[in-house]
Amino acid sequence: MMNTFTKFIFLFMLSVVAVVSAIPISIRDVFVPPVTYPHYGTVWKIGQHHNVTWDTSGAPVNITNKFGLVVLAKGGLEDIDHPLASNFSILDGRVVVKVPDVTPGNDYAIVLFGDSGNFSPNFTITK
Ligand SMILES: *[C@@H]1O[C@H](CO)[C@@H](O)[C@H](O)[C@H]1NC(C)=O
Ligand SMILES: *[C@@H]1O[C@H](CO)[C@@H](O)[C@H](O)[C@H]1NC(C)=O
Ligand SMILES: *[C@@H]1O[C@H](CO)[C@@H](O)[C@H](O)[C@H]1NC(C)=O
Ligand SMILES: *[C@@H]1O[C@H](CO)[C@@H](O)[C@H](O)[C@H]1NC(C)=O
Repeated sequence: MMNTFTKFIFLFMLSVVAVVSAIPISIRDVFVPPVTYPHYGTVWKIGQHHNVTWDTSGAPVNITNKFGLVVLAKGGLEDIDHPLASNFSILDGRVVVKVPDVTPGNDYAIVLFGDSGNFSPNFTITK
């Protein structure tokens, strides 16, 4: 026997499935890969070069926008005017960036944009 709550959950799951399968192909092909480096505990020095890496294993066959953009964020605020890398293929899985001359801090994050943005965990930039 289903009580009211399980019945509610069941109906809710059904409606989620219905909504997801109703989304057109073009939207399902949106690809936002997770950043794998830098990660929590990473320390970068100003002026160094590093590979930002991400996981491309979930890439759909047809990607809506395969050009990537990497920007730096501090305290959750993206510095969209000074991207660290742009116009690379999101399927590369990595792109080399130069650590910019910013105020040292431990609340930096890398944001990888494909169709939309994905934040890395916070990491540290030192002099
Ligand atoms: C980035 O990764 C590539 C491939 O693994 C490597 O050849 C290159 O030296 C790396 N660059 C830096 C700055 O770590
Ligand atoms: C990918 O795009 C091609 C050409 O537009 C199309 O023929 C193919 O069916 C698409 N594949 C998927 C999995 O959407
Ligand atoms: C990173 O730091 C910012 C501001 O300090 C905070 O809002 C955000 O939640 C942190 N992100 C993670 C993934 O911990
Ligand atoms: C971006 O890369 C593509 C292919 O590598 C190139 O054709 C295009 O000119 C580049 N665009 C910019 C704005 O650099």
